[in-house]
Amino acid sequence: MNRLPWGNNENLDNDQFFNRSIELNHLKQMLLTTKNETPPNILLTGIRGVGKTVFLKKIKKELEEDFLVIYINFSQAECFRRKKMSIDALMQFYFKKTLTSCNNNILENIEKKLKKYFKTNDFHFKEIQEINNIPIPIFRSEINIEELMEYVLTFPEKIYESNKDKINGIIILIDEFQIIKELNDYKESFLWVIRSYIQDQRNIAYVFTGSMSLNDTLISEISGHNGVFGGRMISFHLSPFSKNTLKQYLNEKKPQLKFSEDGFNSFYEYTLGIPAYINNFAKILPENIECTPELINRNFNESIYVISSNLVNIWYELSYKNKTIILSMLNGPVKRIDIAKYLNVKSGSLSPNLRELENLSLIHKSDDNLYSLSEPLLKKWLESEFEEKGEYPYTII
Ligand SMILES: Nc1ncnc2c1ncn2[C@@H]1O[C@H](COP(=O)(O)OP(=O)(O)OP(=O)(O)O)[C@@H](O)[C@H]1O
Ligand SMILES: [Mg+2]
Repeated sequence: MNRLPWGNNENLDNDQFFNRSIELNHLKQMLLTTKNETPPNILLTGIRGVGKTVFLKKIKKELEEDFLVIYINFSQAECFRRKKMSIDALMQFYFKKTLTSCNNNILENIEKKLKKYFKTNDFHFKEIQEINNIPIPIFRSEINIEELMEYVLTFPEKIYESNKDKINGIIILIDEFQIIKELNDYKESFLWVIRSYIQDQRNIAYVFTGSMSLNDTLISEISGHNGVFGGRMISFHLSPFSKNTLKQYLNEKKPQLKFSEDGFNSFYEYTLGIPAYINNFAKILPENIECTPELINRNFNESIYVISSNLVNIWYELSYKNKTIILSMLNGPVKRIDIAKYLNVKSGSLSPNLRELENLSLIHKSDDNLYSLSEPLLKKWLESEFEEKGEYPYTII
């Protein structure tokens, strides 16, 4: 049976989740210190498709007996989806998710507390709505953002205080954290406020992660020496599978695949050791036939659309201008002025587009101010489309 998950599956069962045992133990040990009132704040880094989300979900499953583990995917916030990012909308989303993640025992407790709190406090809720028996406070529109952030960011401590007989602490996993880049000028102050509240919480651990390229400035802004969290945020990196790990993985999960030695090396080079691409590619390779470099090459070119489907989806959502900027970088790093010439626009008009593409981790700027593509598979897919169809894919086919 071919039990390999597709590369967009975020919920792997125990049988599908492979290895990562060293990283799992390491991160778990760090998080377990939460019960001794020394919780860590962690920034989990790793390139797109390497397995950050499935890793966090695995951690959640393994720790949730002793801890309340809250998983929040920031990109599900409505304000982000509607491209109307604001701190208060993001905080309200965060708050709702915190509430809805509480298990039933804890929830009963919270509901009573919230109602009591609502009566005795003049905090500006408009009303409490019940959705599936879960009390959701609706905030007033003229809410004071500082007050809201204080309330929301100290809320987990209150959950802990009233449930410490049941749990050893709270672990908050925040995925797709990079979307805070869309707060633009408010991003830095947002980070500082978060830090000011969470750094002294004695029973709450935080793990932040998201799609960030390795040279993403957000990483240094958060955990770098001069970053908001300075030395306080522990960086934890997930690497692509090594060749050895890949060999073990395929032997175990899809033994019907046979490779010549060179064929295996080609498979590794094409997928870059990134599990999302490994799974998509391994799922469609023929079984019980020796995969030589030629066969790998042919199958890769024929199926690159499927293998890199996450990037293809992102591509089709880009504006015409952003797509053209990407195309201007296909032949290697370019200066901003050359991108402007390629598009026949003024260089100044490129700023919001370049920022958007950088925020999506599709491009990056080097120290010598050259822009390059960050996703080799996107480049390969675009080139193969051009080769096959004589034009780049501008419209949905
Ligand atoms: N440990 C693993 N075992 C088996 N497959 C894995 C593992 N880790 C990741 N994968 C595969 O890679 C895919 C992508 O994983 P995941 O969504 O966690 O990546 P990510 O790092 O969160 O990516 P993004 O930056 O785009 O959010 C999964 O759907 C799964 O197919
Ligand atoms: Mg992810």
